[in-house]
Amino acid sequence: MQVREARSPLRPDLYPKPCTLYPVFMARGFFLTFEGLDGSGKSTQLRKLAVHLEAQGLAVTVTRQPGGTRIGDRIRSLLLDSKTESLDAMTELGLMFSARAQCIAEVIAPALHGGNVVLCDRFTDSTEAYQGGGRQLGSETVLRMHQTMCGGLNPDLTLLLLADFDQSLHRARRRNDRSATAEGDEGRFEREDELFHRRVYDKYREIAARESARVVLIEGDRPIEAIHRQIAALVDERLRSVGLLPRLPAASVR
Ligand code: TMP
Repeated sequence: MQVREARSPLRPDLYPKPCTLYPVFMARGFFLTFEGLDGSGKSTQLRKLAVHLEAQGLAVTVTRQPGGTRIGDRIRSLLLDSKTESLDAMTELGLMFSARAQCIAEVIAPALHGGNVVLCDRFTDSTEAYQGGGRQLGSETVLRMHQTMCGGLNPDLTLLLLADFDQSLHRARRRNDRSATAEGDEGRFEREDELFHRRVYDKYREIAARESARVVLIEGDRPIEAIHRQIAALVDERLRSVGLLPRLPAASVR
C-alpha cells in the first residue's frame, strides 16, 4: 500500500487561527475516522479501505491517534507504555489532545487542504469514550477541549466497529498478553479493569446515538472480508455524494 503522507508545513498566512480555516480544509478533502474498543479490528479495516480507495485513484493519507507525527509518537509511547505510572487523568487528557493538535497541524489539515481522503485511526471520539467515559472526566470536559485544541475539526464520517462487549474484552486481553512480551509494550489501557472498558463501550454507544448522522455503527462480530465489503460500499457512496468519486451511471443504480 502506498500511503501518501502530507507533511508540508503550513504557510503562516494560510493558518492564522486554526478555527477559521478548518472548514476550508474540510471542504476540499474528506476526513474519515475509525473508532472502537481495543482489538475491534479497526486498524485492519482501515488498511484495507486505504488500499481499496487508492485502487480507485484517490489520494489517501493514513494517520493515527495518539501519534501520527514524530512528536505525537513520542507522546504515544508515554501514554501507552504500561510502565507509565501515576499519570493523572487530566494529564492524560491533555497529552491526547497535544498529540492530536500536532497531527492536525502537520498531517491532517494539509492533507485535507490538498483534497486527500484522510483515514485516521481514532480521533476525539476515543477521548470522549476513554477519558470522558472510562476515566469519568465527562463528555463536556472533553468536547470543550476539542473545540480549543482541534479548532472544531470534526470527521465527515466515523466508522465505529463494535462487537459484543465480552468478546471485545477477551480479544483486548489476548492482544495485551501478546504485546506484553514484545518490545515497546502498548498495553496501559488494555490492562484497565472490566468496569473501565464497560464505561468506554457505553460511551461509544452514547456518542453513536447522539451523532447518528456522522457515526455509523459497524457490527464487529463478522468475517474481516464481510466487514470490509460493507465499509467499502458505504464509503464509496459517501465519496460519490461529495464528488470525490464519479457518480454511478443511472442504469447501474437500482
Ligand atoms: P490503538 O492505537 O491500538 O488503538 O491504541 C490506542 C490506545 O489509546 C487505546 O487503548 C485507546 C487509547 N486512547 C485514549 O484513551 N484516548 C484517546 O484519545 C485515544 C486517541 C486513544
